Amino acid sequence: MTDEWGDGTRAVRVGGPGHAPGDPFLPGPVFAGTYHLPGEPAGPYQYGRYANPTWTGLETAIGALEGAADTVTFASGMAAVSAVLLGLTGPGDVLVLPSDGYPATRTVGAHLAERGVEVRTVPTAGDELERALPGARLVWLETPSNPGLDVCDIRRIAELAHARGALVAVDNTLATPLGQLPLALGADISAASGTKALTGHSDVLLGYVACASAELADRVRSWRSLTGAVPGPMEAWLAHRSLSTLQLRVDRQGANALAVAEALLGRPEVADVRHPALKGDPSYDVATRVMRRFGCVVGFTLADADTARRFLGALELVADATSFGGVHSMAERRARWAGNDVAEGFVRFSAGCEDTADLVADVLRALDAASPG
Ligand SMILES: Cc1ncc(COP(=O)(O)O)c(C=O)c1O
Repeated sequence: MTDEWGDGTRAVRVGGPGHAPGDPFLPGPVFAGTYHLPGEPAGPYQYGRYANPTWTGLETAIGALEGAADTVTFASGMAAVSAVLLGLTGPGDVLVLPSDGYPATRTVGAHLAERGVEVRTVPTAGDELERALPGARLVWLETPSNPGLDVCDIRRIAELAHARGALVAVDNTLATPLGQLPLALGADISAASGTKALTGHSDVLLGYVACASAELADRVRSWRSLTGAVPGPMEAWLAHRSLSTLQLRVDRQGANALAVAEALLGRPEVADVRHPALKGDPSYDVATRVMRRFGCVVGFTLADADTARRFLGALELVADATSFGGVHSMAERRARWAGNDVAEGFVRFSAGCEDTADLVADVLRALDAASPG
């Protein structure tokens, strides 16, 4: 792979095989629980829980996009999150977590707290994060945060954290490696749920941990081998296949998200429209420094839970579903889940790859339908 290649070229080419006559463009999944292994254990593929050629192809591809020394794929985003948090902290360590990020990450933190880890939860934006760094062993950032869409300056936090001897991991789920490169900004780990925009078709659960050093990746991989939180070969192959359209998808989704956000700004019944690429958004200044693409998620608040329900029910092109990053637009009233500190009428909207005009028209029509009178 050439460093000078653009994002689209890299997304199409990463991790593919050579060009020998008869080679497929992407070899099919290898279904193997075990491998022939005569004599003493040797070679990369010894047992199905330790390694698989289909994972290797995907790990090479994601690693190239993230600029990683080595990458480890997992059965889901939470398997990846857990491997980092559980695998790299122990009793007496201090772990810094976002108070406004994906709630299940904090739940893992709560389990660690019961086992002697000091867990400090702080908002993604603002000064509190810097004040929480002294004594930390691991700093976990989620930027942009889900669902609040706050961002932090990864480069600055990484510098400050490293000066205090802490490791920095970034949840890169929302941005994807085409939107943000945490390792280039100084983080030690870029981890993500590949279930979302990375694979983008709402048909796969996947996670990964991309590491700046082979030593860190070895520790994460050992944790995976031990716990068995491995991706299925079919999922890994589907994920790799999806990468070739990553740039097309995230560009269209980002453009759609911005168009929806701008259309919502013009509506008096909609409050707190958030998207990192919106000029004037609290995240805009930092986001334009650390991100190259701004993701597909828009947050906004309607009057109350009933108005949000009516809005979601009136949408024709947008599924009421709890995820983001897919080619199909989707939205949900986020307060229907416990653990999210959001208003009852808060809607998390994920822009898909539909035509921009169709999507904006659907959103505005549903707003009309949801408005009383
Ligand atoms: C930011 C973030 N990290 C991690 C996860 C967990 O990913 P998964 O559902 O693939 O386990 C999610 C899921 O929504 C998420 O939004």
